[in-house]
Amino acid sequence: MKINRILSNEILRNMCSDTAFLKDQLIQPIFIKESNENSNSIPGLGKNKLFNLNDALKRIEKDLKKECRNFLLFPVQNEKFENDFNVSFTEKIIINIKENFGSDIFLWLDLCICSLTKSGHCCIFTNEKIDINKSLKCMTKIASSYANSGADGIAPSSMTPGIVKNVRNMLDKNSKENIPIMSYSSKFASNFYGPFREAADSAPQFGDRKQYQLDVRSKESAIASSISYAKEGADLLMVKPGLTSIDLISDIHTKTKKPVGVYHVSGEYAGIEILSQKKLINFDAAMSEVWDAFKRAGAQFIISYAARDASRIYFNG
Ligand code: PBG
Repeated sequence: MKINRILSNEILRNMCSDTAFLKDQLIQPIFIKESNENSNSIPGLGKNKLFNLNDALKRIEKDLKKECRNFLLFPVQNEKFENDFNVSFTEKIIINIKENFGSDIFLWLDLCICSLTKSGHCCIFTNEKIDINKSLKCMTKIASSYANSGADGIAPSSMTPGIVKNVRNMLDKNSKENIPIMSYSSKFASNFYGPFREAADSAPQFGDRKQYQLDVRSKESAIASSISYAKEGADLLMVKPGLTSIDLISDIHTKTKKPVGVYHVSGEYAGIEILSQKKLINFDAAMSEVWDAFKRAGAQFIISYAARDASRIYFNG
């Protein structure tokens, strides 16, 4: 084996790295609860708390100082519904955040109903079957409330066929042609969403999500899913979870020509957080490694619970 002369010098390693990475390519999820009680920590998620609105505003202000300004909002309302979903608290959050930060931040709204339904599922059931039409109507109406309140982007995560097309039509009809849609376009049924479901109070009350989230064993249908949401009009595509989906990214990009991002999900993040608490790995080094692997696999952007610490973790302060 010959020595690798490029690897032996840091400047040459940087010179030859085929991944370039900007802070705005990271998106920071943020959970905001309706209750005014103290913000709660979320097991495994470190600094990512279930914030009350006030604390969330303070958190965003701090994050902005570190040039973290691309957020994905998960509202956690108190009430659960079966029909007639009321999202007035979420409207209030969006208005508040945009009043405070305007165009200094980009505010994505996750669009799903799993934390609003009594069932904890991402769709409405009629006679125990997924009711696609009802689910589409309900979520499109919610998306319209988000857009009217000032959301910068909509991110449908429910894996409901037709959702991107319906939301796009609604936005275009309401003079919101400028609002982009980031589709969770290849989303597997996964065991790694655990900490998230705890935070969002969105665990399914019966069964699981295998009826509508993808089967991890099937590559072609995962790619087909992204292609189909691209055809519906998604501007940006995404694979999720992160590490179990990296083989899909460049295929999806080649086939759709759209930017494809990756969601390093709550359970994956928690793995790093907990290992580092036990002093078995170094948090920053491990997080950098994962981000680099996503970039190597062709991810255009990364949704990461550590985005707010990117300055320290990745960009040398
Ligand atoms: C909503 C949604 C989920 C996640 C993002 N949006 C939960 C799920 O699909 O069960 C998971 C994100 C994470 O674990 O970090 N449907």
